[in-house]
Parts: sequence; structure tokens; C-alpha cells
Amino acid sequence: MRADKMNPGGVSGNRSGLDSVTGKLKHYTMMMIVLSGAINILGITLPLFTMQVFDRVLSSRNVDTLFLLAIAAGLALVTAALLDGIRSMALGRLGEWIMQCLAPDVLARSIERRLVDGTLRTEMLRELSQLRSFVGGPGVPAILDIPWTPLYLLIAFLIHPWIGFLSLIGMLVLLTLAWLNQKLSHMKMRKAAALNAQVMRDGDAIMRNAEVIDSMGMSPAVVGRWSRTLGEEVRLQDSLQCRNAALVSVTRLTRSLLQVTLYTTAAILVLDQQLTGGAMLAASIIMSRLLAPMESMFVHWRSLVLLREISGHLKAFFALPDLRSTETELPRPLGRVSVERVVVAIAGHPAPILRGVSFSLEPGEHLAIVGPAASGKTTLSRVILGILRANQGAARLDGMDVSKWRRADLGKHIGYLPQDVELFAGTVAENIARFKKYPDAEIVRAARMAGCHQMIVSLPNGYDTEIGEGGYLLSGGQRQQVGLARALFGRPRLVVLDEPNSNLDAVGEQALKQALTWLRESHVTAIVVTHRQAIVGQMDKLMVLQNGAIKLFGPVEEVLTKHREKPATVSNETVSQLAADANRAIVDSRQEDGDAATNGSSDAHDDDVEDQPKEAAA
Ligand SMILES: Nc1ncnc2c1ncn2[C@@H]1O[C@H](COP(=O)(O)OP(=O)(O)O)[C@@H](O)[C@H]1O
Ligand SMILES: [Mg+2]
Repeated sequence: MRADKMNPGGVSGNRSGLDSVTGKLKHYTMMMIVLSGAINILGITLPLFTMQVFDRVLSSRNVDTLFLLAIAAGLALVTAALLDGIRSMALGRLGEWIMQCLAPDVLARSIERRLVDGTLRTEMLRELSQLRSFVGGPGVPAILDIPWTPLYLLIAFLIHPWIGFLSLIGMLVLLTLAWLNQKLSHMKMRKAAALNAQVMRDGDAIMRNAEVIDSMGMSPAVVGRWSRTLGEEVRLQDSLQCRNAALVSVTRLTRSLLQVTLYTTAAILVLDQQLTGGAMLAASIIMSRLLAPMESMFVHWRSLVLLREISGHLKAFFALPDLRSTETELPRPLGRVSVERVVVAIAGHPAPILRGVSFSLEPGEHLAIVGPAASGKTTLSRVILGILRANQGAARLDGMDVSKWRRADLGKHIGYLPQDVELFAGTVAENIARFKKYPDAEIVRAARMAGCHQMIVSLPNGYDTEIGEGGYLLSGGQRQQVGLARALFGRPRLVVLDEPNSNLDAVGEQALKQALTWLRESHVTAIVVTHRQAIVGQMDKLMVLQNGAIKLFGPVEEVLTKHREKPATVSNETVSQLAADANRAIVDSRQEDGDAATNGSSDAHDDDVEDQPKEAAA
């Protein structure tokens, strides 16, 4: 049972992950059934021994035979116990193996699905973990015993046809009860499982927003709302539990009544001299063994149904189309970006978020995107990076549709600083190096480019400072700087920075400007969503995005001239202000060029555009 055949994180792959596990699982299941066969055959020891002792030894008074029988029975029972132990251990490991094989694939796929439909798919991981505990739990051995029940039935018939019939009837009664249970509970069980998933999901979401909830005293209301869903689930589970408990009692009663009937029938047969006393005892043992798996199946019925649901979910999950199907490794891109009539519409969002956006950038060109809040800037960045697939049109890098590019290949050439910078649990160095092994010099180089080398070395452990959950807490600006270093790391060909200076102070912003200069010198294409005039001023092109459509696009100066000629075309006040401020930025950057010696003097002009007086437009 080795997991190394699998391809953890093989997002781009196919269904082979699940298929190969299912294939091997069939093989292991067969092995387990054979092992269970051996255990069940050895299980005949006790009734056989009882019969021999009662019918042979007691009548012949042969003590030697008795000892011989006892030793043989002892050996057989020890072997059965050993095999039983091996079976339980193997099942436990099988559960772990399934988890190890599928969990990385499931998580990698969950990441992809999250980007496609925005749903949080961690419940698939949770379900996988349920599957693992079921496989290693007590229910499976009982189920594995079921194929061997005919063996005991046959022996019952061999002892006496009446005993056989009685056992058969007992089996059928228990099966009918189980079936009835399934019929009655099926819908409720499904609903309860769905509610349980929702309770978990909502709980996660609440925990993520702990700060907001606590700061504004929302806890009672939020928890109250969550409790309502929980209450609904608890009520359902409770009624299921009650019904199941009742049916389990009925089953136990049925079993006891069957034993009584068996003894009565057997006694009549003994009196009629059709059966020996030993056979009567043996029949009783056989009947218990025959009905035991049925009864435990009953007890584990819920898990069994859950298992079926989970494997259905897993199959459906793995059958979802892959986002990136290309398997060919493509050469390192030059950085030519072309966006062709991209339309992005999201279910539940009234109007399309992007409405036919088209533009292109030559390798090494720098573009600034400005636009009011919710105009689609972040969405456009995500389409350009292939994180989000457009409903219509495509974003291409060197002519290749980015959404189809194999992620492990494309990611090397991309630098992305998202609007909400997320760093991961790990050291600063690991975060910058994107959790891959790289020489330290490369990491320091990226940090220097992002202008945060000094900040990092002043942390408690420098580059080895643990950050993220349970580690050192970085401020918003520090996180943004480390995020920028991560984006610049590994010599990318396309860098997209989404509002990179929202948390930066003057020094941080100066570093950002230097990083952009470095990107320009290295001929790296850059797209920056920003409202800061100082940044816009040093870009080649400017795009004004409004309501998901391009209002203006072209060389920075040209866009601003156009805007001045036809101010009526830009109705939105904010956009006109942004454009106006960008205009000022050019003037500022020219001043800066002329005043290069005074390092950082331009910071005085780098106010947020929102703070600019409107007259600046004139
Ligand atoms: N995954 C999503 N689901 C629903 N609406 C979304 C999603 N992503 C973005 N939007 C909506 O699209 C619009 C544009 O968002 P965004 O691109 O983030 O704007 P910007 O970055 O310009 O502020 C917003 O109205 C936002 O609510
Ligand atoms: Mg945004």
C-alpha cells in the first residue's frame, strides 16, 4: 500500500487518481473477502467442537479424544483470532492509504473548483476523512462476513432441514427490517448530512471573520443565526437516532425470539430422535454466527449509507472537467498579453462584471489600471492570470489561453500581488520563495527588489521568522512588502499588482516605484491596479475601467489628452478625478526626473487620489 504512485497536487491531471485507487481498492477488497473466508471457515470450529464433545466424548467417555479435540479447537481459534487481528489492522491501514492517495488530489482540485464556482469545497476533504474512519472502523469486518453467510446456512441445512429453514427465515426477517430502515430514513439522512456540512461551513466562515464579529459585538447574533441551522440538524439527527434505536431493539428482540424458536424446534427434533443434543447446541451457535453480521450491519447502516453517498460525491467531484488540460510544457513566455472581448458574468450578480474587455500589451510594457470601486479591476487581473476563466473571450499570454496553461508551468512566469495579501504559515523566506527550495541569494534578491530586505532582517529571526498562524504577526504594510517580494521572486515574465500600495507608507511606495523601474529594465510586462498618481506617471499605458468596460485606453499622455478633449464621455466623477490625478502624476514624474538627486522627494506628491482636490482636473 504505497501512496507514492499517486500524483499529489496533480491538478492538471485527470481522473487517474481516483481510478487507480478504485482499481487497487477492488484488489484489496478481494483479498479482504478471502481473508474473511478463512476467518469464517475457522469459525465453524466451536460448533463442530461442541457437537463432537457432546455426541462422541460424552457417550464414549474417551478422554484422549477430548484432549485431542480441545488442542485442535484451541489452535484453530488462535489462528482465527490472529487472522481477525490482521484483518482489522489491514483495514485500518487501508483507510490511511486511501486518505494519503486521495487527499492531496482532492485539495488540489478543491483549489481549482473554488476558482471556478466560488464554492468552498473543503467538505470534500471532510467527507474523505469520514470515509477513512469508516474503512478502519468496526462496520467493515461485519460487511466482509456477509458473503460467507451461505456457508453457515449450508451447515444449518446439513444439521437438519428445519434448522436450515428457520435460519433462512431469521436472515430474511432481519434483512427486511434493514431494508425498511433504509426506506424510512434515506431522505432524512441525506438532509441531515447536507445540514451538517452547512453547519461546518458556516462555522468556518464565522471563525474567519472573528475580528469583525468581536469588534462590533456581533457574536450573539451571528452565533444565534448559526444555532438555528444547528438546531434543525440536531432535530433531524435526533429523530433518525430514535428510529434507529427502536429498530435495533426490534432486531435484538427478533434474534432472541429466533433463538427460542430454534431451541424449541431442536428440542422437538431431539425428542423425536432426529437430532442429537450436540447438534442442537451447534445449531444454536451457527444461528448466532449467521445473524451477527446482519445485526451489526444494522448498527452500522448509517455509516454504510454515508459511505455510498461519499463515494458518489467523490466520483462526481473527480468527474468535473479539469480547468487546465494542456499537458505540453510551453516555452518561457516573452510577456505579450492580449485580452480578447472578455465577458465575465457570475451567477447571482445582476450585470456582467466585465463586458467585452479587449486590449493588448507588448512584452515589457507597463499598464496602469484605474477605475472606481467595483468597476472590475480585480476581476480583470484575475482573468489575465487565468485564475478566473472568462465566460466569453480569452486572455492570452504569448498567444496561449492562460486559463488552459498548466498551472505548475505558468506559475513560474507569473508574479501576482493580490489585493488582500495572504501569507502562509511558514518562514518569511519560504513565503517569498513560494515554498520551493531556492538558494538564499535568490530570496534576498527578491526582497531587495521589493525594498523589504532591511525590514526582514530586523524581524526577530530575520528571514527565518515564522509568520502566519501561531507565528510572528506582520503589519498590513509588511505583509504587502513580503507579498511584493513573492511576486517578484523567480524572475517572472508577467507581474500583476492589485493595489500594491494600499497599505504602504512613503518608504514602501518608493520601494514599489524602484521595483517597477527594475521590472522595466528587465523587460518584464507589468500591470498595476493603482490610484496613486506617482505610480501611474511612470507607466506606459493607462486604462480607465468603468462598470466592467474600458472607458479609455492608450499611452498615458494620450489617454489624458483625450480625457481633456471630451470630458463628457467620462461621466463618473471618480474616474474623471482619477484621470486628472494621473495627469498631475505625469507633471510630478517630470519634476522628479529633473530632480533625481533628491531621493524620495516625490513622496510629498504621492497622496491618495481620493484626497486630491477636484480642481486638480483643470
Ligand atoms: N466571485 C464573485 N462573486 C460575485 N460577485 C463578484 C465576484 N467577484 C467580483 N464580484 C463583483 O464584481 C464587481 C467587480 O469586482 P472587482 O473586480 O473586485 O472590482 P474592483 O477591483 O474594481 O473594486 C463587484 O461588484 C463585485 O461585487
Ligand atoms: Mg479590486
